[in-house]
Amino acid sequence: MPSTSSVNPPHVEILPNKAALIERSLTVVLSVINDAIAERDRCTLALAGGSTPKPLYEALAQQDLPWQKLYIFWGDERYVPIDHPDSNAGMAKAAWLDQVAIPLGQIFPMPTQAKDPETAAHQYEQTLRAVFPEATETVPQLDLILLGMGDDGHTASLFPHTEALNVRDRLITVGNKDGQPRITFTVPLINRARSVLFLTAGANKQQALSQVFAAEADSEMYPSRLIQPEGELWWLLDSEAGAALNL
Ligand code: 6PG
Repeated sequence: MPSTSSVNPPHVEILPNKAALIERSLTVVLSVINDAIAERDRCTLALAGGSTPKPLYEALAQQDLPWQKLYIFWGDERYVPIDHPDSNAGMAKAAWLDQVAIPLGQIFPMPTQAKDPETAAHQYEQTLRAVFPEATETVPQLDLILLGMGDDGHTASLFPHTEALNVRDRLITVGNKDGQPRITFTVPLINRARSVLFLTAGANKQQALSQVFAAEADSEMYPSRLIQPEGELWWLLDSEAGAALNL
């Protein structure tokens, strides 16, 4: 079980297959969105990239929600134009956001056209802070951050043995995947969230998950261990990914 400083132990569920994983994740996401809107009249949500969450985004596009109450961010982004096939924002817009009436001024793709990734990271930090004016000197608290986990144990663009893992004085930093720049939330920003939800599927994630859930392991090698949110931590796994866990 990931060691966690949060009051609540992680919610860990192993679903029989990926379809069930997506169905369960939809239920959790809708519950968090509805609770956030009921309590604060808005929901601030950061999306994960990669391939796993795409069917979740497609399912969200079919929902009837008060879209004008949603504020959408990304937890990380590849440093490519939004129309590039690798763009996390491009994927989520095509699967979900372009189908629903979230005001465009409430959808915040990470900038990837700045002269350099460091400038883009700084720009996005300013963008995020503007949506949380109450947190000008502290770490803003998003309602929900969706995350995936790579087969190397990375999450967002916090890759093993990279400088981004240790950034504690900023909200957004530059990640590094095999020399390719990424823009990513930092550990403090993720851990400030009211809810963090990992969606992880596939046998190729088994080994990393066993290390993330181990009592002792190297967080520099398995960065998903660093995710210990103040709020609720959810791990929704399919049976292939969770097969090595003795839960
Ligand atoms: C990205 C993601 C990354 C992803 C994991 C899992 O930009 O690639 O943010 O952290 O969530 O690599 O990816 P899959 O869902 O494709 O396995």
